[in-house]
Amino acid sequence: MKILVTGGAGFIGSAVIRHIIDHTEHSVCNVDKLTYAGNLESLASVSDNERYCFRRVDICNRAALAEVFHEFRPDVLMHLAAESHVDRSIDGPAAFIETNIVGTYNLLEVAREYWNKLGEPNKSTFRFHHISTDEVYGDLHDTSSLFTEATPYAPSSPYSASKASSDHLVRAWKRTYGLPTLITNCSNNYGPYHFPEKLIPLIILNALQGKPLPVYGKGDQVRDWLYVEDHARALYQVLTCGQVGETYNVGGHNEKKNIDVVKTLCSILDELKPLASNTAACAAMRASGLEGKAYEELISYVKDRPGHDQRYAIDASKIERELGWKPDETFESGIRKTVQWYLDNPSWVERIKSGAYQSWLDKQYGDGSQA
Ligand code: NAD
Ligand code: DAU
Repeated sequence: MKILVTGGAGFIGSAVIRHIIDHTEHSVCNVDKLTYAGNLESLASVSDNERYCFRRVDICNRAALAEVFHEFRPDVLMHLAAESHVDRSIDGPAAFIETNIVGTYNLLEVAREYWNKLGEPNKSTFRFHHISTDEVYGDLHDTSSLFTEATPYAPSSPYSASKASSDHLVRAWKRTYGLPTLITNCSNNYGPYHFPEKLIPLIILNALQGKPLPVYGKGDQVRDWLYVEDHARALYQVLTCGQVGETYNVGGHNEKKNIDVVKTLCSILDELKPLASNTAACAAMRASGLEGKAYEELISYVKDRPGHDQRYAIDASKIERELGWKPDETFESGIRKTVQWYLDNPSWVERIKSGAYQSWLDKQYGDGSQA
């Protein structure tokens, strides 16, 4: 198959592309605008593969998108391009409306035009797989209920409202025009190559530098964590075996309070990178009046996120029952691997922090006029 992936330079998209190139014979065209969250260095292990190509295109640019379809002639499409960070959506919602709603609309229209002209059997086997989030369901306030595929939508943030809108557009394009769509709604991902604005990489990297570990509110909100490579396998399973028009929830059965996640990260770091061997962090902590004996000393409770969702928890029984998918990693195994990955890959992190990867992009791809 020829698989068009949007947002393939992001955290999950890059895991999906690495999975496809490493474990299948399919070809991938990665369409990405390369915003601050897009990093081609996350694809270094596959970028020389002859089954991989990259096009720097903004999904809001319909003409450029149509050209990619014309040139690559995809058999199927996986749509991951999005603005993805809730706090940024609160600060500035415009980009979220533009990319997540208008961009998805553009992609649906370009895909529909392309699909309409396909002959059989390609027309019947074409898939538009839209990758979405459990945040469209809003939040849960008790400790036992779970989000199912039938849970009514009730998004809370500009980010989740924009993702909910895009899900509605995708369903409408299936019902009205017959476009063969699939939707997945997944819980919080974590793992290698995660941009350090999100909780888990932020805590690991701040701790390693002896900086405060910001915990919003009381830290009692609950998230359901899934290792990113398990998500990539689930997406491939849905793409290849999912029923057209269906939605599948994806989750890891790993509900954790934020404060417990932060404390777990601190204790893994105490073991893998003790403060006694991290003189810079230790000195920074002592300068702030801390003892510098354990990373937990750095925990700092800060102002809560406006409209902060209390609890997310996914019922993933449909994808498990119908498509035979299950996560391989427990939270305990996945979080340890993740911490180890950040310890083993300081140059990936350094180049993000210094902005070097962005300067490289500018040099490699010019002023971005193609996007
Ligand atoms: P990310 O922010 O790491 O990556 C997004 C990618 O999209 C980046 O490479 C960026 O350059 C690209 N992009 C942004 N705007 C674009 C545009 N206009 N045109 C083309 N490319 C553009 O996001 P992620 O965490 O990898 O999430 C990927 C998808 O999965 C998103 O749709 C998100 O809503 C969804 N999702 C994420 C999670 C999670 O925990 N991270 C969980 C469930 C669902
Ligand atoms: O549930 C899926 C969603 O998970 C995805 O759709 C989003 O794209 C993804 O960003 C993620 O959203 P969250 O808001 O849950 O993730 P984040 O890592 O930003 O925050 C996780 C929790 O930790 C959340 O309750 C807020 C809290 N938090 C976050 C940060 C960045 C803190 O307490 N301190 C922080 O500094």
